[in-house]
Amino acid sequence: MLQRTLGMRGLVVSAEGLGCIGLTQAGISVDEASSSATINHALDVGITLLDTADAYGPLLNEQLIGRVIASRRDEVVVATKFGLELDADGRRTGKLNGRPEYVRRAVDGSLQRLGIEVIDVYYQPRVDAETPIEETFGALAELVECGKVRHLGLSEAAPDTIRRAHAVHPVTVLQTEYSLFTRDVEIDGVLSTIRELGIGLVPYAPLGRGLLSGRFRSGADLAFDDRRRQLPRFRGDNLAQNLITVDQVRAIAEAKDITPSQLALAWLIAQGEDVVPIPGTRRISTLDENVAAVGITLTPDELAALDMAAPRGVAVGERYPPALMRDVYR
Ligand SMILES: NC(=O)c1ccc[n+]([C@@H]2O[C@H](COP(=O)([O-])OP(=O)(O)OC[C@H]3O[C@@H](n4cnc5c(N)ncnc54)[C@H](OP(=O)(O)O)[C@@H]3O)[C@@H](O)[C@H]2O)c1
Repeated sequence: MLQRTLGMRGLVVSAEGLGCIGLTQAGISVDEASSSATINHALDVGITLLDTADAYGPLLNEQLIGRVIASRRDEVVVATKFGLELDADGRRTGKLNGRPEYVRRAVDGSLQRLGIEVIDVYYQPRVDAETPIEETFGALAELVECGKVRHLGLSEAAPDTIRRAHAVHPVTVLQTEYSLFTRDVEIDGVLSTIRELGIGLVPYAPLGRGLLSGRFRSGADLAFDDRRRQLPRFRGDNLAQNLITVDQVRAIAEAKDITPSQLALAWLIAQGEDVVPIPGTRRISTLDENVAAVGITLTPDELAALDMAAPRGVAVGERYPPALMRDVYR
């Protein structure tokens, strides 16, 4: 698969990664055999970047990945995250924690669950307002120095925070929500800042959490316990409005004889060689569909048509409920 170099410190990854959150968080409907098969298939077709977090599961996601990569460590770039605070029993507390002592404890837990000696990319997924970023990145820099971590990342950070962190230790990658539905980084200073500093971009939720795939036609298509029911964009009139945008994206995809998901991913990949999306899927068939997007080139006319169909700010409704919106762009 096409390779990309992210950041200025030689991190080379496949042009598309695999977001692993859904492989454990869907609860009992996800079984180990099929999740393992999906991850193994991703590696077989050339994906090298696996994205996880200690909070996914919690703990279960890292444990799953650890079992799968035990015999394939050399093929994988493992990206994980700390800081959505877990208590001593591994339960989410609902708080953020970027304190140095927490960072030092969290990394050892992740290394143990993943069964590896060094984490390739270690992200702080949300900035902890109670802890100066210099303190968090000071502790992270020590982890790089002592060989527990190779590259540092931030997620959902604001430009000033990115600069302050980068001044303590170079940031290799920024992970943030970016898709045809969420183009905030293009205008809020994040994209220009990371490009100035030489930081790579890993868009998460590149399919708008599945909405851009076109597979949802109404709220009724979401399972009763699907967490997306809590997201403003998936609710009521917002969803109806957003599905109109999805239909417009779908029309452009059909004209090119590709799927809406492939179009959404090809659009992201076309944003620059410093951009590596991490779509999530539990299914091998959709994984193959998404991987094929890496080989799709969009013409200037198609890119312009997408700008018309999905301009900045097109999505109706915030991407998170209010309590969670407070933690982004901080
Ligand atoms: N840093 C952060 O704050 C943060 C936040 C959220 C997520 N993430 C990371 O980003 C990754 C991706 O985000 P995400 O999983 O939330 O959203 P996403 O990649 O935009 O969408 C995933 C959803 O789309 C469906 N899907 C994927 N490919 C499809 C296709 N070709 N056709 C139809 N449906 C398709 C998946 O369903 P199936 O599973 O049923 O295929 C899943 O429900 C996560 O796995 C996680 O690693 C990071």
